[in-house]
Amino acid sequence: MTNKLKYFIGNWKMFGDFGSFKIINKVNKFSHESKNLSKKKIILCVPSTLIHFFNKKLKSKFISLGVQNCHYHQGYGPFTGSINASMLKKAGAKYIILGHSENRAEGETNNLIKKKIISALKQKLNIIYCIGETLKEKNKGKTFSILREQMKSSLEKKFNINKIIFAYEPVWSIGTNKIPKMDKLKKTIKFIKRDFKKNFKTKKTPKVLYGGSVNDKNIRLFSSISQIDGFLIGGASQSSKKFIDIIINYYK
Ligand code: 13P
Repeated sequence: MTNKLKYFIGNWKMFGDFGSFKIINKVNKFSHESKNLSKKKIILCVPSTLIHFFNKKLKSKFISLGVQNCHYHQGYGPFTGSINASMLKKAGAKYIILGHSENRAEGETNNLIKKKIISALKQKLNIIYCIGETLKEKNKGKTFSILREQMKSSLEKKFNINKIIFAYEPVWSIGTNKIPKMDKLKKTIKFIKRDFKKNFKTKKTPKVLYGGSVNDKNIRLFSSISQIDGFLIGGASQSSKKFIDIIINYYK
């Protein structure tokens, strides 16, 4: 069993209502009761409509709560339907997912993501920055150049890397039950770490998570790659049992 800190982060996407607190509560209890299992950090990124409620209702916190996106603008402004990083921070968010491919697919560019990252860093939120190639890009052998571009055009050398965790999420793997071959995945995770250090002229190795169709059955496969610092889990995080089983099975 590894003794390195591992992240298990749930991305609820567009899921949940006030009744979903029971999921949060069970995961929180599990986190407390299993604290001797190993060094792990459990985070649930929920819809913005629920973060304040969950944050208040959860008395003793053994997990952290986060959100899934924000507007780039730092103050209040004429942006109908939008929420900024400061508002999310005040509502109780500690983490924020940015650059998710589902938002990129709706037109979010690397440049817009950069503005969001700046805004979130200003609020001292911890950022989970999603990067990953599409199937078309993979088939053209462009995975590494896409990842490099996503890192280079959304990040700056002066950013506080301690506040940024990468999530490598190949788009073709999200919600498809398809996962990368383990030798390929290991190479990609190592590439992200190495390339980031080189381009951003830092000795600090960034944390890199994997995301895409992670479930309680396939999680064991990933434990062979020590370079993976944890997981960003979509569908399976919407059930406390499935999410908890992923964590239990990872350490089996
Ligand atoms: P699934 O785990 O549902 O494939 O989603 C992954 C994801 O998009 C997490 O951000």
